[in-house]
Amino acid sequence: MNLKSLIRDIPDFPKPGILFRDITTLLCDPQGLRYTIDILAEKCGNLEMQVDCVVGMESRGFIFGAPLAYRLGSGFVPVRKKGKLPAAVHRIDYQLEYGTDSLEVHQDALTPGSRVLIVDDLIATGGTASATAKLLEKIGCELVGFGFIVELKDLQGRKHLPDVPIISLVEY
Ligand code: PRP
Ligand code: HPA
Repeated sequence: MNLKSLIRDIPDFPKPGILFRDITTLLCDPQGLRYTIDILAEKCGNLEMQVDCVVGMESRGFIFGAPLAYRLGSGFVPVRKKGKLPAAVHRIDYQLEYGTDSLEVHQDALTPGSRVLIVDDLIATGGTASATAKLLEKIGCELVGFGFIVELKDLQGRKHLPDVPIISLVEY
């Protein structure tokens, strides 16, 4: 199946000059959605280490992370933007183009040694995925790999990630 044909290009969103790759058109295609999860589960299931837990980043990482966890027979842990999680959290601050942001995960969601797979819809600069990896490493988790639907190659996000397998289904 040609996943790229199900991803819509929106020029000048959210700012002039940005070509936004919109996965909502893929999500509402029944065959496309099923195929995406099936192929991601197949590739992630073939990684060397077994996955205890899929970690997905707010918000589009939740859409793919939870069904993938279901398919892998693992748990799912949300990493959220600051102030959204109700119980005690671990936090990481990271650099954006202008300013900083924070990501949080519940302290009791992961334990040292948990084998985690990080999943998001898309990797651009790699800032979000790299901050998430650092947050999980601080907890003592073992990183099994990364899974993305879309990779924006020109931005070279993967060079900011640790040396574990990186799966992406569609490249631009
Ligand atoms: C988007 C996307 C990734 C991140 C990728 O999320 O879903 O999480 O940006 O960019 P990066 O590789 O440069 O960090 P966004 O922060 O727009 O949040 P959303 O999923 O809630 O729309
Ligand atoms: N599409 C969707 N999300 C994004 C993009 C994009 O092109 N760039 C950064 N986040």
